[in-house]
Amino acid sequence: MNWGLQNRLSRIINPKTGHCVMLAVDHGYFQGPTTGLRNLGKTVIPLLPHADALMITRGALRNWIPPKIEKPIVLRVSGGQSILKELSNEIITTSIQDAIRINASAITCSVFIGGEYEKQSIENLSKIVNDGEDYGIPVLAVTAVGKEMVRDSKYLSLASRICVEIGAHIVKTYYCENFSEVVEACGNVPVVIAGGKKIEEKAALQMAHDAVKDGAAGVDMGRNIFQSDNPVGMIKAVRAIVHENKTVDEAFGIYKKK
Ligand code: 5RP
Repeated sequence: MNWGLQNRLSRIINPKTGHCVMLAVDHGYFQGPTTGLRNLGKTVIPLLPHADALMITRGALRNWIPPKIEKPIVLRVSGGQSILKELSNEIITTSIQDAIRINASAITCSVFIGGEYEKQSIENLSKIVNDGEDYGIPVLAVTAVGKEMVRDSKYLSLASRICVEIGAHIVKTYYCENFSEVVEACGNVPVVIAGGKKIEEKAALQMAHDAVKDGAAGVDMGRNIFQSDNPVGMIKAVRAIVHENKTVDEAFGIYKKK
C-alpha cells in the first residue's frame, strides 16, 4: 500500500484502535430528499464534531457542507439508478480528478452481487480501485443488497470477499448472525456496518455493539443516526460503543441525554 493511500486511510480508521464512526449521508443519490436530509446541512453540521468521516456525494457536499471543515470525506462516486428502477444498474458518476479536487480521503461505490447488473457494478469497483491506486486514494466498497437477497453470513461473506478480491481497502456491509464469518472472509481489510432502515435506538446500538464484538472496525451509519429523535445523542452513543467500549445500556443513557 503506498504512503498516500495509507495516510488517507488512517484519517478515516484510527490507526491506534482500528476503529471508526463514519456518518453516511449519501442516500439522496438514489432516494432523493430522504427523511432527515431534505436540508442536509441543517442535519449534518451538528453531527460532524462526533463523526470520524463523512460519506457523501459531491453535489451534496457542494450544496450543504462548507469547504472549511476538517473531517475526511468518503466520496460516493457511483449513481445512475433510483428507487423507482433496478438499483443495480449503476455507473461511475464522478471522476478521480474531481475526487482529488474535493480532497477526498476515500472514494466509494456499491456492488450488487447477484443483482441484474452484477458485472457492471464489479467493473465500477475495479475502475475506482485502479484509479485510487494510481493516486493514493483508498476505496470503500458497499455491498448493496437487492430486494431478493437474504442478508445472511453466507451471502454477505460472498459479496464482501468479492470486494476484497477486487482490491477494496474498506468493506461496508450489513450486520447478520455469525457476522464474525463475514469479517474473517475479508482477511485484513477492515469491515464497517451500515445501519439499514431506521430501527429503535437501543436495537441499533445493540447492533453496533455486536458488530464490533464480532470484529467490525466500526460503523458507516446513516438513517439510524440522522432519523433519530436525538441525532447528536445517537451519534455520541454509537461513538461510545465503537471507541470507548461502553455497554449498550451505558450508550443508551448517552443517547437519551438531550
Ligand atoms: C446504500 C448506502 C447508503 O446510501 C447509506 O450509506 C446506507 O446507510 P444506512 O443504511 O446506515 O442508512 O450505502 O447502499
